[in-house]
Amino acid sequence: MSSANPASHIGGGGPNSGDLPEHVAIIMDGNGRWASARGLPRSVGHERGVEALRKTVKSAQQIGLSHLTVFSFSTENWRRPVAEVNALFGLLKAYVKRDLSRLHEEGVRVRVLGTRKGLPQDVSDLVKRAEETTEANDKFTLCIAFNYGGREEILRAAQAMTAAAIKGEISADDISEDSFASYLDTAGLPDPDLVIRTSGESRLSNFLIWQAAYAELVFMDVLWPDFNGDHLSEAISTFRQRERRFGGVTSGAA
Ligand code: IPE
Ligand code: IPE
Ligand code: MG
Repeated sequence: MSSANPASHIGGGGPNSGDLPEHVAIIMDGNGRWASARGLPRSVGHERGVEALRKTVKSAQQIGLSHLTVFSFSTENWRRPVAEVNALFGLLKAYVKRDLSRLHEEGVRVRVLGTRKGLPQDVSDLVKRAEETTEANDKFTLCIAFNYGGREEILRAAQAMTAAAIKGEISADDISEDSFASYLDTAGLPDPDLVIRTSGESRLSNFLIWQAAYAELVFMDVLWPDFNGDHLSEAISTFRQRERRFGGVTSGAA
């Protein structure tokens, strides 16, 4: 690729078809429908969703992935009834409290993507603790997108860059795709190669809209609480059959 190419980093060094994805991101959707189908409250679906998350992290480690990002609470999910929002906060706290020491022992680095604005103090304290405790771990990265929206993240990055420019630390010419990405919550992480969404919906719902520019998308009919390692393997094998071209031409084409 020519160095004059403004998007020369897209796909540069990224996995080719056939390789294991370096970074898998999952939109964990369908908890409410899973519960409704059983005549249970939506909160039970969310509880079962946490079990599916535990299993999925384990499977991802066993498969040999290095980065997994999961979408747990979006900036748009504030539109839900307050009791459901509080239940989701409670589940994040319970997950971190119960799993943090084990994840740390396993060498997992935990990162939480999204804004802390609006989060209850105890939730943001716990998030900080999880990130600080595991900061030096490098066997596996688990990113939890919580209070996360792609547009909000991009705006925060733009605000931070503008503030740096006003202070004279950077100039307009310093704003490139790579420097901008370093202001995003995902700074330092590889872009997701594969984005999976469960529950049969075919949309991104404001998830990693910058980072997933060239991700392969796999939509699965399974509701999130029913998701397991076999589904993850199936999505990965679909990914491995895809041909990633990054705007180029089929390899071997004349
Ligand atoms: C995903 O399940 C979890 C969150 C968005 C927090 P949903 O709660 O969206 O479940 P459905 O889509 O209503 O079935
Ligand atoms: C996306 O699911 C957010 C999470 C999975 C956390 P939603 O259920 O909120 O998305 P929409 O409303 O169907 O687009
Ligand atoms: Mg949903």
